[in-house]
Amino acid sequence: MRSLILEGLTGTTAIELGFPFSSIREYCSGKRLAVITDSTVYRLHGDSFPEGQTAVLGSGEFSKNLGTVGEIYEFFLSQELDRSSCVVGIGGGVVCDIAGFCASTYLRGVPFGYVPTTFLAQVDASVGGKNGVNLKSYKNLIGTFNQPQFVLCDFKLLRTLPEKEVSNGFAEVIKHALIGNSSLFSQLEENHERIMSLDEDILEEIVNASLQVKIEVVSQDEKENGYRRILNFGHTIGHGVEKTLGLSHGESVSIGMVMEAGLSAMKGKLYPKTVGRIKGILENFGLSVKASLDKVALIDAIWKDKKREDDEIHCVLLEGIGSAKLDRIKIEELEELFDDLCEYC
Ligand SMILES: NC(=O)c1ccc[n+]([C@@H]2O[C@H](COP(=O)([O-])OP(=O)(O)OC[C@H]3O[C@@H](n4cnc5c(N)ncnc54)[C@H](O)[C@@H]3O)[C@@H](O)[C@H]2O)c1
Repeated sequence: MRSLILEGLTGTTAIELGFPFSSIREYCSGKRLAVITDSTVYRLHGDSFPEGQTAVLGSGEFSKNLGTVGEIYEFFLSQELDRSSCVVGIGGGVVCDIAGFCASTYLRGVPFGYVPTTFLAQVDASVGGKNGVNLKSYKNLIGTFNQPQFVLCDFKLLRTLPEKEVSNGFAEVIKHALIGNSSLFSQLEENHERIMSLDEDILEEIVNASLQVKIEVVSQDEKENGYRRILNFGHTIGHGVEKTLGLSHGESVSIGMVMEAGLSAMKGKLYPKTVGRIKGILENFGLSVKASLDKVALIDAIWKDKKREDDEIHCVLLEGIGSAKLDRIKIEELEELFDDLCEYC
């Protein structure tokens, strides 16, 4: 077990790695608890939930909307929640994002914490204080920045997670290694089989190193006024891939990382052979590095994404493994480079 602390402007988060989630009561002692989860997590792990009332959402992204938020507010009302209560989201990124948003806005803010149950939520979604819901087809359009009080990562919960979902989380771990920790990258390369077998000791090391990169970035720019955009490596193109091809977030970010590493190489910032190394590690963690992309649809989706400013798009370029820099690219330039970029996938 080890602990990390994120000191944010909106609060401090205690992140506990390898903590058995059945002892969650220690974190909320004496408080009225309202638990939010989804139907899959409740079916698989509900027996170990803390005592108290639980709101069970439909599992998956389709629940992440304002309709669900309204239902959760009704649930809080029925439970007579007040500011001395505690909301706990037990689930993947969807549950964490909704639970954090509802807790942050009900009574102008009720304390909350998470037990992330997907690998993606453990290494990314539960940490950093972004929470929110989708509006129509726009992802995370409504939300707040507000830090949870605690995040308890129990790696045993991952044993019921389908392998594809585990791989999705590794896309974000690899991203953290690429933007900020070259030795994490080497460790992932050298030990991928042991890591993919979900050996808890090595997972704890990997999650610790990965979260340290995110915490370091968030501590410098909690509300994403600039530097936090570095965490979008692979996501500028990745979100376009997700929208146009309907692939999972992890698969899309994986393809996005290959193309954005390719862009870094084309701009002379990264050795072309490093792109091959990046593709190798993504494949080892079960992620896609190839896709048949529709140029017009993809450029249109990238253009409509939140990362646009005037006629430019914010992007992240790699300067080596473990080192990245913020940049901007004009949409016309991206269009011109597109065919060459596709050579990398
Ligand atoms: N707030 C942030 O900083 C941040 C960062 C990254 C992603 N996100 C958000 O996270 C969401 C994606 O998260 P996700 O990939 O965890 O999706 P998810 O929450 O939909 O979980 C994926 C699937 O796994 C199931 N599941 C969860 N835990 C399980 C377990 N232990 N065993 C078996 N099945 C389990 C869920 O029911 C669901 O079907 C997106 O909405 C994304 O926008 C937020």
